[in-house]
Amino acid sequence: MTSTPTNTNTTRSKRISLRRWRESDASERYLLARDPEIGPRAGWPPHQSEKESLDAIRKYFTNETTWAVILKETGAIIGCAGYHLPKTANLPLKENEAEVGYWIARPYWNQGLCTEALSMVIGHCRKLGTITILFGEHFTDNPASGRVMVKCGFTDTGERRKCPSLLVGAEKEVRVLTLNLQQ
Ligand SMILES: CC(C)(COP(=O)(O)OP(=O)(O)OC[C@H]1O[C@@H](n2cnc3c(N)ncnc32)[C@H](O)[C@@H]1OP(=O)(O)O)[C@@H](O)C(=O)NCCC(=O)NCCS
Repeated sequence: MTSTPTNTNTTRSKRISLRRWRESDASERYLLARDPEIGPRAGWPPHQSEKESLDAIRKYFTNETTWAVILKETGAIIGCAGYHLPKTANLPLKENEAEVGYWIARPYWNQGLCTEALSMVIGHCRKLGTITILFGEHFTDNPASGRVMVKCGFTDTGERRKCPSLLVGAEKEVRVLTLNLQQ
């Protein structure tokens, strides 16, 4: 059975758990976030140092909407999943909307792990009751990300946009998907 993360607790599904990021995760996060196949596909540059990963944890990931994805079998951090409320989202959102985001380290791709993580994030948002619509976006040349959302019930809005707020790939086309949590 898959449970959903709460604001304070670690939550588990069959293979993974989601827990809050800690400053002590910086070295492990750096080893994953330096991979040039991860960040740029999500709009951010590969990390150059452990210090950069620590700064990112402090600045962007110490909050109640972002989790480290942990592989239960080994205890290793294998990715990141969460959502942005309107203030920090890339997409222009209304008050009751949120934008999901995620990445998984390359050795773990195509095993359904991100789908599992996103499902837990969706479950959390449903449980909160304050978010009625989720959005997600991905570069159209990164179809695996879109597939994750579709597997979790998102549908294509038909909207294609450029994302000027993204640090990497602002010139590229982005596809926008949505999931209505009230249906
Ligand atoms: C996108 C990403 C999160 C997917 O993680 P994952 O754990 O491999 O995802 P899952 O295994 O749950 O699902 C991946 C799906 O994409 C499919 N897929 C993989 N490569 C694909 C491709 N080139 N074209 C179409 N589908 C593809 C897989 O077959 C799988 O679908 P299936 O289960 O129907 O076979 C991961 O590749 C990643 O972190 N990429 C870099 C960062 C990133 O893109 N983040 C998202 C930014 S919007």
